[in-house]
Amino acid sequence: MKKVLVTRPLPEAVISALSKVHKVAVRDDTRPMGRDEMVAALTRFDAILPTIGDRFSADVFAAAGEIRARLLANFGVGYNHIDVAAARALGIMVTNTPGVLTDATADLALTLLLATARRAGEGERLLRAGGWTGWHPTQLLGTHVTGKTVGIVGMGRIGQAIARRCHFGFAMEVAYFNRSEKALAFPARRETSLAALAGSVDFVVLAVPGGAETRHMIGADTFAAMKPTGIFINIARGDVVDEAALIAALAAGEIAGAGLDVYEFEPRVPDALKAMENVTLLPHLGSATLETRTAMGMLAADNILAFFAGKPLLTPV
Ligand code: DGY
Repeated sequence: MKKVLVTRPLPEAVISALSKVHKVAVRDDTRPMGRDEMVAALTRFDAILPTIGDRFSADVFAAAGEIRARLLANFGVGYNHIDVAAARALGIMVTNTPGVLTDATADLALTLLLATARRAGEGERLLRAGGWTGWHPTQLLGTHVTGKTVGIVGMGRIGQAIARRCHFGFAMEVAYFNRSEKALAFPARRETSLAALAGSVDFVVLAVPGGAETRHMIGADTFAAMKPTGIFINIARGDVVDEAALIAALAAGEIAGAGLDVYEFEPRVPDALKAMENVTLLPHLGSATLETRTAMGMLAADNILAFFAGKPLLTPV
């Protein structure tokens, strides 16, 4: 029986599956772990099931000294909060939860795209504030979605799931920017520069992984290249976008709106964004369905169970 730390409360099915085999401690706090907590956890547990915000940096590993943990089974597909190279150098394995959250995250991208284009947030606020005086023909006119062009930045699993929804559900033309050409089950044109993509589509949807390689990949240049009627959607990671440049582009009317699920300095959301009616703001809900969060937890748990049973990891990074 190994000692496992789960760093946030998770759906009960996950804790129960892990507890049948191992001694599980669940951290009863929904906030990210502090540095000292992470250092202590590395020395006291055989495996840790961390998630977004638990910054297992090289410095944290170094401060832990004698490390007991052999596995960090991350809850989430994105693992840019873990220094994987530093973990590997110490013989600590890292896993993530790809695949199981693809559909939920793609659904949320479409939620943001539709809500922003059709001014749903604005309409809701108006109605709840008691300001709706009745239907009239020019009220809250939005942007048509069906038949428009979507530009996907990052045509991985989630990018493709978004594109499928846009193509099959909304008869949209699909363009994308990706390091390599992809064999896709729907028509899509690949653009070889971000600017070319941004300038030729109605919606830019960001779906690349976070991390040093993609930090501030989207900035003033991309927003300047977008159509003034263009809408920007981010369901990836906040720091892929230069948030100050996004705010400036929205304020200057360089783009028409934005739908955001993630923020550069999460959970801090700039007041400037909150004050803009043409921006839809969600609190990082991409994978937030009970089914998906349970599946993510089960996959992380299955990695832990496999590891200590001497079997291959299911989803190593
Ligand atoms: C992930 O898995 O990286 C998501 O952002 C969590 O919802």
